[in-house]
Amino acid sequence: MRRDILVSASILCADFLQLDKEIKKSEAAGCDMLHVDVMDGHFVPNITIGQVIIQAIRPITKLPIEVHLMIENPWLYIDSFIDAGADVISIHAECYGQRRVSCLDLGKFPKEVDSINLEKAKADILKIKQMGKKAFMAVNPGTPMCLDRLLKDLDGVLIMSVNPGFVKQKFIPEVLSKVQEVRKKFSGDIVIDGGINAVTAKPAVKAGANILVTASYFFSAVDPQGAVKVLKEG
Ligand code: DX5
Ligand code: ZN
Repeated sequence: MRRDILVSASILCADFLQLDKEIKKSEAAGCDMLHVDVMDGHFVPNITIGQVIIQAIRPITKLPIEVHLMIENPWLYIDSFIDAGADVISIHAECYGQRRVSCLDLGKFPKEVDSINLEKAKADILKIKQMGKKAFMAVNPGTPMCLDRLLKDLDGVLIMSVNPGFVKQKFIPEVLSKVQEVRKKFSGDIVIDGGINAVTAKPAVKAGANILVTASYFFSAVDPQGAVKVLKEG
């Protein structure tokens, strides 16, 4: 059975001087969710936005807000992002395991691991769920799928199709095999994030993704409604 394809608008490419209009535009165009990319300059080589922006947009939209935490020590911030209004929290697998030597040092990216501490990850997943929100786990392109024993606890898996940090990057097709691998054993949400456009959405959906995150493709579209339609047609 084909599941509905949902489009999640990443506000990182929105015009921040008109954020309210940009959110109304996302709703009117048929986006199903909002994706907020939180970056700390340590887990990824860029700094973006935090709780205050989520607090500001929460009252003006009914769309679910997914907070993508690209930060070190995400467990320190779960409560405050939920208090700010997040409906879904995505935590990165790379925060729960021994980092590869290539990215151990400050300023070395992308952060990657080969395995994770399941107990530690599970505790945070359960914390998010006990607070009544959905827990997704995100995986960088170079990190293998090491979440098998967590799938029963997770609401979703977010597969990064670019190395996190920046918008407008090129989709990495090698991650499609990870999407296929997860879809074989997981009936929850599979999010694909990075480089999604009219061309890359198709193979992502075919591989098993059902939530497509888009920043640059959606926010630069002349016809936002048409852009969402194209993505949903997969
Ligand atoms: C990348 C972020 C993505 C990003 C996607 O680090 O996690 O969510 O906003 O941007 P586009 O759609 O332009 O690749
Ligand atoms: Zn993201």
